[in-house]
Amino acid sequence: MPRTAALRARDQEPAGERFLEEALAGLRAPDKWLPCKYLYDERGSELFERICELPEYYPTRSELEIMRAHAGEMAEALGPGVLLIEYGSGSSLKTRLLLDVLEGPSGYLPVDISREQLLKSSAALAADYPKLEVLPICADFSAPFALPGTQRRAKRRVIYFPGSTIGNFSAEHATRLLAEAAALCAPDGAMLIGVDLRKDRETLERAYDDSEGITAAFNRNLLQRMNRELGADFDLGRFQHRALWAEAQGRVEMHLVSAVEQVAQIAGERIHFRAGESICTEHSHKYTLKSFAGLARSAGLCVTRVWSDPRQRFSVQLIERGG
Ligand code: AVI
Repeated sequence: MPRTAALRARDQEPAGERFLEEALAGLRAPDKWLPCKYLYDERGSELFERICELPEYYPTRSELEIMRAHAGEMAEALGPGVLLIEYGSGSSLKTRLLLDVLEGPSGYLPVDISREQLLKSSAALAADYPKLEVLPICADFSAPFALPGTQRRAKRRVIYFPGSTIGNFSAEHATRLLAEAAALCAPDGAMLIGVDLRKDRETLERAYDDSEGITAAFNRNLLQRMNRELGADFDLGRFQHRALWAEAQGRVEMHLVSAVEQVAQIAGERIHFRAGESICTEHSHKYTLKSFAGLARSAGLCVTRVWSDPRQRFSVQLIERGG
């Protein structure tokens, strides 16, 4: 039997679907919102992959540039015998760039809530790294979860969290996530994390409102998903995609703006929209090196190394327990 066929996900009971409950709670709020995790159904994940290839969406390219230039230094900083735990599916080139240079990693544990995506990417990775023990964990990494035992003893646990997904969490939730990650890696683990950096409004807003309309389709797919899965009746043509840089909050916000006064129904409940009223579907926080160091500190962690691209658009940071 090929080794990849034997891969199975270690299930950590990811929270069951609370889509309807959470969607209704957000749509009943005075400032309507929907949790951004629901953007990623099958169609949403496909659209997100296309976003990552867009000329306007600089984060993926900048992070890859950093990994290509500095993965060797990162591996040196992490040391030999690392157990690499990745938050996200790890299908990407970035993980491979790191695995290629790590000295004798003791195992690779990708953690993702989407079982299908997790198994697909883990199988591909296991096939390409036949000596590496690959143990996929189906779990929500934004809540505490346990690690399975591995065949080889790890010298050090390291969490790899690329893509600047940390930016999609509020400061409070991000602090909790980092503190829980530190506990998972205790006593002397580390986290290698992709962090998007603040920049001019135009670059930021274009990255989230591209000329091909892929990000708009990604955003509107959330309405389509509610129509498909929750029997809602949103009229997609009457909601416009909007991305704006909110300077004071340090974040790009994605909205769906109602073009007219209208009523949509979801599970028998009528949701009223004024013309121009919006549903906020995502926050993407952007950090300065100083503000991210502050976030890490609030979780009891300390930034020990920072790698950036020549244009200082993005950063990959090594964070460890504060001294
Ligand atoms: C997944 N996450 C880091 C992306 C971001 O940039 O915040 C999601 C995204 N939303 C629109 N474009 C990309």
